[in-house]
Amino acid sequence: MHDNYDRYPFELKPLPYAYNALQPYIDEKTMRLHHDKHLAAYVDNLNAALADYPAFHHWSLEQLLYYSDRLPEKIRTAVLHNGGGVYNHNLYFAGLATQNPVRQSSKGTKTARIQTEEGSLPVALSAQFGSLEAFKDKFKAKALSVFGSGYTWLVVSGTGELSIVNTQNQETVLPLELCPIMLVDVWEHAYYLKNYNVRADYIDNWFMVASGEAAEENYRKCLQFVAPPLPEPRAAAAHTASAAIKTDYGPAPFVTDIQKATLANDTYRTALWTGENLQLTLMRIEPGDDIGLEVHEDHDQFLRLEEGSGVVQMGKARDALDFQESIYADSAIFVPAGTWHNLTNTGKAPLKLYSIYAPPEHPRGTVQKSKK
Ligand SMILES: [Fe+2]
Repeated sequence: MHDNYDRYPFELKPLPYAYNALQPYIDEKTMRLHHDKHLAAYVDNLNAALADYPAFHHWSLEQLLYYSDRLPEKIRTAVLHNGGGVYNHNLYFAGLATQNPVRQSSKGTKTARIQTEEGSLPVALSAQFGSLEAFKDKFKAKALSVFGSGYTWLVVSGTGELSIVNTQNQETVLPLELCPIMLVDVWEHAYYLKNYNVRADYIDNWFMVASGEAAEENYRKCLQFVAPPLPEPRAAAAHTASAAIKTDYGPAPFVTDIQKATLANDTYRTALWTGENLQLTLMRIEPGDDIGLEVHEDHDQFLRLEEGSGVVQMGKARDALDFQESIYADSAIFVPAGTWHNLTNTGKAPLKLYSIYAPPEHPRGTVQKSKK
């Protein structure tokens, strides 16, 4: 997956070539409409969907699409549809080139500048599909089989295997844990002005301008980075678990410098003191990560931030988090029993906080080095 670290507000990327650069294979008018109208609308609509949700403004486009189950239900569909539209079109336009290195020779086979070294994409395609021509035939047949609007992709799976898959509408391959090498947009807006309803002609033309170099670059990235780039690695916290903090000092009488203890904590959660009716836990949330949406039916919760910044959301239901506030060092947060809540680190440093549950929420002696 190729995280370009685009974040809200998303921008319309200019084409890396002139509108008429792909002629005669793809015409100028189609390129203008496709990029300046269709892609621009997806960008605008994605920004509009996210505008009132600052907790997700630091998420990359790939994170929004891959971790869409973490988005509020109110915006999930809009983000998937429009974010997919942005992701797919950016990949599509970046995958076209004015000087296509994969062209047909007089014998009808592809020759020019095809890489043949071990490990290159053409070699891998030949190994997987029998030959480059066989791959092309299979890809074209797959693209013709898209019912309605969608895309055909060449992807790499987690095991490094190449395959051709279709997606509908503006769905992406990210939730399928597939890494994209190249894709063809088979929405009619991609070809109707020139090819009318003859998708096969458009696919033939697309092959003439599909960039072998862009595909090769994506292929190499895919082989190295098949795993999705999360919201933020949490494992880093584990190896720096502070030896200075013991657990658990309750229910004995205990006095501590709570600010120092909170700042020294390098675990996701450590129960510092657990009594019969109250518990204090220290927490550390990594940049881009959150506590996780939860509700405590029968007890209230208090949290205090000692370091970092973020957003707290609360509401009566998991899909109705109407209450939202920015939080900073020294912020105190009160969560009533029965209220769904989440806290997201929107800053660049870890969030250091402590939380008081009454009655206790976690087993005495709890230490979770990381969130999982
Ligand atoms: Fe399109």
